[in-house]
Amino acid sequence: MILLETVHELRAWRHQAGRVLLVPTMGALHEGHASLVREARRLAGDSARVAATIFVNPLQFGPNEDFDRYPRTLEADLRLCEEAGADLVFAPPVHEVYHPDRSISITESSLSTVLCGASRPGHFDGVCTVVAKLFNLVQPDEALFGRKDYQQLAVIRRLVRDLDIPVVIHGVETVREPDGLAMSSRNRYLTPEERAQAPALQAALRRARDAWLAGEQDVPRLLRAIREHVAVNAPLCREDYVSIVDPGSLQPLARVEHHAVALLAFWFGRARLIDNLELRR
Ligand code: PAJ
Repeated sequence: MILLETVHELRAWRHQAGRVLLVPTMGALHEGHASLVREARRLAGDSARVAATIFVNPLQFGPNEDFDRYPRTLEADLRLCEEAGADLVFAPPVHEVYHPDRSISITESSLSTVLCGASRPGHFDGVCTVVAKLFNLVQPDEALFGRKDYQQLAVIRRLVRDLDIPVVIHGVETVREPDGLAMSSRNRYLTPEERAQAPALQAALRRARDAWLAGEQDVPRLLRAIREHVAVNAPLCREDYVSIVDPGSLQPLARVEHHAVALLAFWFGRARLIDNLELRR
Protein backbone atom coordinates (compact mmCIF):
# COMPACT_ATOMS: atom_id res chain seq x y z
CA MET A 1 0.00 0.00 0.00
CA ILE A 2 1.25 3.47 -0.75
CA LEU A 3 0.66 6.73 1.11
CA LEU A 4 0.46 9.96 -0.89
CA GLU A 5 0.08 13.47 0.49
CA THR A 6 0.21 15.73 -2.54
CA VAL A 7 -2.14 16.29 -5.45
CA HIS A 8 0.78 16.11 -7.84
CA GLU A 9 1.69 12.54 -6.75
CA LEU A 10 -1.97 11.50 -6.72
CA ARG A 11 -2.44 12.62 -10.32
CA ALA A 12 0.58 10.59 -11.42
CA TRP A 13 -0.76 7.52 -9.57
CA ARG A 14 -4.25 7.97 -11.07
CA HIS A 15 -2.82 8.17 -14.57
CA GLN A 16 -1.62 4.55 -14.45
CA ALA A 17 -4.21 3.05 -12.09
CA GLY A 18 -7.00 1.72 -14.35
CA ARG A 19 -10.35 1.18 -12.61
CA VAL A 20 -10.45 2.76 -9.12
CA LEU A 21 -12.83 2.35 -6.16
CA LEU A 22 -12.76 5.11 -3.54
CA VAL A 23 -13.53 5.12 0.20
CA PRO A 24 -13.48 8.71 1.53
CA THR A 25 -12.93 9.08 5.30
CA MET A 26 -11.86 11.58 7.92
CA GLY A 27 -9.58 9.08 9.66
CA ALA A 28 -9.89 7.87 13.28
CA LEU A 29 -10.78 4.65 11.54
CA HIS A 30 -12.71 1.75 13.07
CA GLU A 31 -14.37 -1.47 11.90
CA GLY A 32 -17.09 0.52 10.08
CA HIS A 33 -14.48 2.10 7.85
CA ALA A 34 -12.68 -1.24 7.52
CA SER A 35 -15.86 -2.84 6.21
CA LEU A 36 -16.08 -0.15 3.49
CA VAL A 37 -12.49 -0.82 2.43
CA ARG A 38 -13.03 -4.60 2.49
CA GLU A 39 -16.19 -4.24 0.41
CA ALA A 40 -14.28 -2.02 -2.03
CA ARG A 41 -11.57 -4.70 -2.22
CA ARG A 42 -14.21 -7.37 -2.91
CA LEU A 43 -15.82 -5.26 -5.66
CA ALA A 44 -12.42 -4.38 -7.12
CA GLY A 45 -11.14 -7.94 -7.36
CA ASP A 46 -7.53 -8.31 -8.45
CA SER A 47 -7.58 -5.91 -11.38
CA ALA A 48 -9.02 -2.65 -10.00
CA ARG A 49 -7.39 -0.41 -7.36
CA VAL A 50 -8.82 0.54 -3.95
CA ALA A 51 -8.07 4.07 -2.75
CA ALA A 52 -8.98 5.48 0.67
CA THR A 53 -8.73 9.15 1.55
CA ILE A 54 -8.08 10.46 5.05
CA PHE A 55 -8.90 14.14 5.33
CA VAL A 56 -10.52 15.96 8.25
CA ASN A 57 -12.45 18.45 6.17
CA PRO A 58 -12.62 21.83 7.92
CA LEU A 59 -15.52 22.96 5.70
CA GLN A 60 -17.99 20.50 7.17
CA PHE A 61 -17.44 21.50 10.81
CA GLY A 62 -19.37 24.39 12.34
CA PRO A 63 -17.54 27.11 14.35
CA ASN A 64 -18.41 25.44 17.68
CA GLU A 65 -17.90 21.87 16.52
CA ASP A 66 -15.08 19.40 17.11
CA PHE A 67 -12.72 20.10 14.16
CA ASP A 68 -9.74 20.91 16.41
CA ARG A 69 -10.20 17.95 18.73
CA TYR A 70 -11.36 15.47 16.05
CA PRO A 71 -9.14 12.39 16.68
CA ARG A 72 -6.13 12.13 14.35
CA THR A 73 -4.63 8.63 14.38
CA LEU A 74 -2.78 8.34 11.06
CA GLU A 75 -0.42 5.49 11.98
CA ALA A 76 -3.22 3.19 13.15
CA ASP A 77 -5.41 4.31 10.21
CA LEU A 78 -2.75 3.27 7.70
CA ARG A 79 -2.46 -0.17 9.29
CA LEU A 80 -6.24 -0.62 9.18
CA CYS A 81 -6.39 0.42 5.50
CA GLU A 82 -3.60 -1.93 4.58
CA GLU A 83 -5.12 -4.87 6.46
CA ALA A 84 -8.52 -4.20 4.86
CA GLY A 85 -7.00 -4.30 1.39
CA ALA A 86 -6.42 -0.71 0.25
CA ASP A 87 -3.80 -0.08 -2.45
CA LEU A 88 -3.49 3.64 -1.82
CA VAL A 89 -4.16 6.12 0.97
CA PHE A 90 -4.35 9.78 0.05
CA ALA A 91 -3.94 11.88 3.21
CA PRO A 92 -3.31 15.48 2.13
CA PRO A 93 -2.75 18.47 4.43
CA VAL A 94 -5.50 21.12 4.29
CA HIS A 95 -3.46 23.45 2.06
CA GLU A 96 -3.19 20.74 -0.63
CA VAL A 97 -6.98 20.65 -0.87
CA TYR A 98 -8.12 24.24 -0.32
CA HIS A 99 -6.73 27.40 -1.84
CA PRO A 100 -6.67 30.26 0.68
CA ASP A 101 -8.87 32.37 -1.62
CA ARG A 102 -11.21 29.55 -2.64
CA SER A 103 -14.60 30.94 -3.66
CA ILE A 104 -16.74 28.04 -4.89
CA SER A 105 -18.92 25.84 -2.73
CA ILE A 106 -21.59 23.28 -3.58
CA THR A 107 -25.04 23.53 -1.96
CA GLU A 108 -27.62 20.79 -2.05
CA SER A 109 -30.78 22.67 -1.19
CA SER A 110 -33.49 20.09 -0.45
CA LEU A 111 -32.30 16.95 1.37
CA SER A 112 -29.77 19.01 3.33
CA THR A 113 -32.35 21.27 4.96
CA VAL A 114 -33.73 18.68 7.42
CA LEU A 115 -32.35 16.40 10.18
CA CYS A 116 -28.55 16.89 10.61
CA GLY A 117 -28.65 19.69 8.03
CA ALA A 118 -31.09 21.65 10.19
CA SER A 119 -28.90 21.29 13.31
CA ARG A 120 -25.58 21.77 11.50
CA PRO A 121 -25.93 24.72 9.11
CA GLY A 122 -23.42 24.52 6.27
CA HIS A 123 -22.39 20.96 7.12
CA PHE A 124 -23.65 19.37 3.91
CA ASP A 125 -22.23 22.22 1.80
CA GLY A 126 -18.87 21.21 3.24
CA VAL A 127 -19.52 17.53 2.56
CA CYS A 128 -20.70 18.14 -1.03
CA THR A 129 -17.77 20.42 -1.77
CA VAL A 130 -15.12 18.06 -0.43
CA VAL A 131 -16.66 14.94 -1.96
CA ALA A 132 -16.88 16.64 -5.37
CA LYS A 133 -13.24 17.68 -5.00
CA LEU A 134 -12.16 14.17 -3.93
CA PHE A 135 -14.02 12.77 -6.92
CA ASN A 136 -12.19 15.19 -9.20
CA LEU A 137 -8.84 14.44 -7.60
CA VAL A 138 -9.09 10.64 -7.47
CA GLN A 139 -11.47 10.23 -10.43
CA PRO A 140 -12.87 6.97 -9.09
CA ASP A 141 -15.19 4.75 -11.09
CA GLU A 142 -17.08 3.80 -7.94
CA ALA A 143 -17.22 5.10 -4.37
CA LEU A 144 -18.47 3.58 -1.12
CA PHE A 145 -20.28 5.31 1.75
CA GLY A 146 -21.81 3.99 4.99
CA ARG A 147 -25.55 3.81 5.60
CA LYS A 148 -24.85 4.97 9.16
CA ASP A 149 -24.74 8.46 7.69
CA TYR A 150 -28.05 7.94 5.92
CA GLN A 151 -28.64 11.58 5.05
CA GLN A 152 -25.07 12.04 3.82
CA LEU A 153 -25.48 9.06 1.49
CA ALA A 154 -28.74 10.52 0.12
CA VAL A 155 -27.11 13.92 -0.40
CA ILE A 156 -24.12 12.38 -2.20
CA ARG A 157 -26.39 10.35 -4.47
CA ARG A 158 -28.17 13.61 -5.33
CA LEU A 159 -24.85 15.41 -5.89
CA VAL A 160 -23.75 12.75 -8.35
CA ARG A 161 -27.11 12.64 -10.09
CA ASP A 162 -27.62 16.39 -10.43
CA LEU A 163 -24.05 17.19 -11.50
CA ASP A 164 -23.71 14.11 -13.77
CA ILE A 165 -20.61 12.95 -11.93
CA PRO A 166 -19.63 9.60 -13.49
CA VAL A 167 -19.16 7.68 -10.22
CA VAL A 168 -21.26 4.69 -9.11
CA ILE A 169 -22.21 5.10 -5.44
CA HIS A 170 -22.52 2.09 -3.12
CA GLY A 171 -24.16 2.22 0.33
CA VAL A 172 -22.67 -0.17 2.91
CA GLU A 173 -24.48 -1.55 5.97
CA THR A 174 -23.75 -0.04 9.40
CA VAL A 175 -21.21 -1.90 11.52
CA ARG A 176 -22.17 -2.05 15.19
CA GLU A 177 -20.60 -2.94 18.53
CA PRO A 178 -21.90 -6.23 19.98
CA ASP A 179 -24.41 -4.26 22.11
CA GLY A 180 -25.87 -2.50 19.05
CA LEU A 181 -24.12 0.88 19.26
CA ALA A 182 -23.19 2.07 15.75
CA MET A 183 -19.43 2.40 15.45
CA SER A 184 -18.34 6.02 15.19
CA SER A 185 -15.11 7.95 15.54
CA ARG A 186 -17.00 10.07 18.10
CA ASN A 187 -17.74 7.13 20.43
CA ARG A 188 -14.31 7.69 21.95
CA TYR A 189 -15.58 10.97 23.42
CA LEU A 190 -18.05 9.03 25.64
CA THR A 191 -17.51 8.56 29.38
CA PRO A 192 -17.98 4.96 30.63
CA GLU A 193 -21.46 5.89 31.92
CA GLU A 194 -22.45 7.46 28.59
CA ARG A 195 -21.01 4.51 26.68
CA ALA A 196 -23.14 2.15 28.77
CA GLN A 197 -26.30 4.09 27.87
CA ALA A 198 -25.57 4.76 24.18
CA PRO A 199 -26.92 1.41 22.86
CA ALA A 200 -30.37 2.67 23.89
CA LEU A 201 -30.44 4.75 20.69
CA GLN A 202 -30.48 1.72 18.37
CA ALA A 203 -32.70 -0.22 20.82
CA ALA A 204 -35.24 2.63 20.71
CA LEU A 205 -35.31 2.54 16.91
CA ARG A 206 -35.78 -1.24 16.96
CA ARG A 207 -38.62 -0.83 19.41
CA ALA A 208 -40.37 1.55 16.98
CA ARG A 209 -39.78 -0.87 14.11
CA ASP A 210 -41.26 -3.72 16.15
CA ALA A 211 -44.31 -1.60 16.96
CA TRP A 212 -44.69 -0.78 13.25
CA LEU A 213 -44.34 -4.44 12.27
CA ALA A 214 -47.05 -5.20 14.84
CA GLY A 215 -49.41 -2.75 13.12
CA GLU A 216 -48.73 0.73 14.53
CA GLN A 217 -48.58 3.14 11.57
CA ASP A 218 -49.07 6.46 13.35
CA VAL A 219 -45.80 8.42 13.35
CA PRO A 220 -46.43 10.55 16.47
CA ARG A 221 -47.02 7.35 18.46
CA LEU A 222 -43.89 5.71 16.99
CA LEU A 223 -41.84 8.81 17.84
CA ARG A 224 -43.20 8.76 21.38
CA ALA A 225 -42.08 5.12 21.76
CA ILE A 226 -38.54 6.07 20.66
CA ARG A 227 -38.33 9.06 23.02
CA GLU A 228 -39.70 7.08 25.97
CA HIS A 229 -37.20 4.30 25.48
CA VAL A 230 -34.30 6.77 25.33
CA ALA A 231 -35.56 8.77 28.33
CA VAL A 232 -35.74 5.62 30.49
CA ASN A 233 -32.56 3.89 29.29
CA ALA A 234 -30.25 6.79 28.48
CA PRO A 235 -31.05 9.61 30.91
CA LEU A 236 -27.60 11.17 30.35
CA CYS A 237 -28.34 12.18 26.76
CA ARG A 238 -30.21 15.11 25.27
CA GLU A 239 -32.25 15.01 22.06
CA ASP A 240 -31.19 16.84 18.94
CA TYR A 241 -33.86 15.26 16.74
CA VAL A 242 -35.96 12.14 16.25
CA SER A 243 -37.77 11.82 12.95
CA ILE A 244 -39.48 9.32 10.66
CA VAL A 245 -39.19 10.31 7.04
CA ASP A 246 -39.74 9.26 3.47
CA PRO A 247 -36.52 7.51 2.35
CA GLY A 248 -36.40 9.38 -0.96
CA SER A 249 -37.24 12.96 -0.01
CA LEU A 250 -36.29 12.80 3.70
CA GLN A 251 -39.50 14.71 4.43
CA PRO A 252 -41.37 13.80 7.64
CA LEU A 253 -44.26 11.35 7.35
CA ALA A 254 -47.53 11.31 9.30
CA ARG A 255 -48.07 7.57 8.77
CA VAL A 256 -45.79 4.70 7.74
CA GLU A 257 -47.42 2.33 5.31
CA HIS A 258 -44.78 0.46 3.29
CA HIS A 259 -41.38 2.05 3.73
CA ALA A 260 -39.78 4.74 5.87
CA VAL A 261 -36.60 5.47 7.75
CA ALA A 262 -36.38 6.45 11.40
CA LEU A 263 -33.43 8.67 12.27
CA LEU A 264 -32.18 10.28 15.43
CA ALA A 265 -29.38 12.40 16.85
CA PHE A 266 -28.64 12.72 20.58
CA TRP A 267 -26.00 14.56 22.57
CA PHE A 268 -24.01 12.69 25.19
CA GLY A 269 -21.97 15.47 26.75
CA ARG A 270 -19.85 16.84 23.91
CA ALA A 271 -20.46 13.86 21.65
CA ARG A 272 -23.29 14.00 19.13
CA LEU A 273 -24.31 10.50 18.06
CA ILE A 274 -26.57 9.62 15.12
CA ASP A 275 -28.26 6.42 14.06
CA ASN A 276 -31.08 5.23 11.83
CA LEU A 277 -33.18 2.21 10.99
CA GLU A 278 -35.25 1.44 7.92
CA LEU A 279 -38.86 0.41 8.38
CA ARG A 280 -39.61 -1.97 5.56
CA ARG A 281 -41.23 -5.37 5.38
P1 PAJ B 1 -16.25 9.58 8.30
O1 PAJ B 1 -17.15 9.96 9.42
O2 PAJ B 1 -14.82 9.27 8.58
O3 PAJ B 1 -16.90 8.33 7.60
C1 PAJ B 1 -16.32 7.81 6.43
C2 PAJ B 1 -17.26 6.77 5.86
O4 PAJ B 1 -17.42 5.69 6.81
C3 PAJ B 1 -18.69 7.34 5.62
O5 PAJ B 1 -19.18 6.85 4.38
C4 PAJ B 1 -19.47 6.78 6.79
O6 PAJ B 1 -20.84 6.63 6.52
C5 PAJ B 1 -18.79 5.44 6.99
N1 PAJ B 1 -19.03 4.91 8.33
C6 PAJ B 1 -18.82 5.53 9.51
N2 PAJ B 1 -19.21 4.74 10.54
C7 PAJ B 1 -19.66 3.59 9.98
C8 PAJ B 1 -20.21 2.37 10.52
N3 PAJ B 1 -20.36 2.18 11.82
N4 PAJ B 1 -20.58 1.41 9.64
C9 PAJ B 1 -20.44 1.60 8.30
N5 PAJ B 1 -19.93 2.72 7.74
C10 PAJ B 1 -19.55 3.70 8.57
O7 PAJ B 1 -18.44 10.63 6.56
C11 PAJ B 1 -17.36 11.22 6.55
O8 PAJ B 1 -16.22 10.73 7.18
C12 PAJ B 1 -17.13 12.52 5.80
O9 PAJ B 1 -18.33 13.26 5.84
C13 PAJ B 1 -16.66 12.33 4.34
C14 PAJ B 1 -17.70 11.58 3.50
C15 PAJ B 1 -15.31 11.58 4.33
C16 PAJ B 1 -16.44 13.72 3.71
O10 PAJ B 1 -15.54 14.46 4.43
